Amino acid sequence: MKEPLTLALPKGRLFKQVQKHFSEKGIIFDFEDRKLTAYDSKGLLKIILVKNSDLPTYVNYGIAGLGICGEDVIYETGLKFNNLLPFDFGGTKICLCGKQGEGEKKDLNGLTIATKFTEFTKDFFHGEGTPVKIIKLNGSVELAPILGLAPYIVDLVETGSTLKANNLEVIRTLKEIGVNLIANPSYYKTNYEKINELINILKD
Ligand code: PRP
Repeated sequence: MKEPLTLALPKGRLFKQVQKHFSEKGIIFDFEDRKLTAYDSKGLLKIILVKNSDLPTYVNYGIAGLGICGEDVIYETGLKFNNLLPFDFGGTKICLCGKQGEGEKKDLNGLTIATKFTEFTKDFFHGEGTPVKIIKLNGSVELAPILGLAPYIVDLVETGSTLKANNLEVIRTLKEIGVNLIANPSYYKTNYEKINELINILKD
């Protein structure tokens, strides 16, 4: 039997969407309770389950040759991968948000933004010529405007229900974010035949 390809998948809401897409293409897998590695039913893949923000690290070091990940996460790492296949699920938007009804002040200059996406936020606003102060958070970013840590946040918005539940709104969409199959470049070079077979199975 051929050696399986190694694929890192992120925990969280993207996982279920990946699992569903793969099963529609005949690649079935599941993780036993609390287990973090699994093989698919065809033996094509060894899958490891990692924290979303750690996924690029595993692929960069070749622990997993392949990964499925949002562009937001990759951007923060500054790492370079082969982008092999865009998926039509998991798409989201990265947005500047604030309290409902306050709108964007004419001048964001010097204002504070709380975010998980510090690199993206810095590059975006500084690229526009708007210096902003950035406070790094790792989650529950919506609390920042409510509790007075920062008037604005930059965060992912998918359904908008988290914003709504916290009386916040989108002020501006900064970027559409897609989900891709990525590869470690040297792993792709040495496994491109098997990887291309996988791409042919997965693409619509
Ligand atoms: C993400 C994001 C928002 C929420 C948006 O958080 O940071 O908080 O999802 O989704 P919605 O528009 O569908 O409500 P995640 O669930 O990854 O948790 P986190 O707050 O720990 O980052």
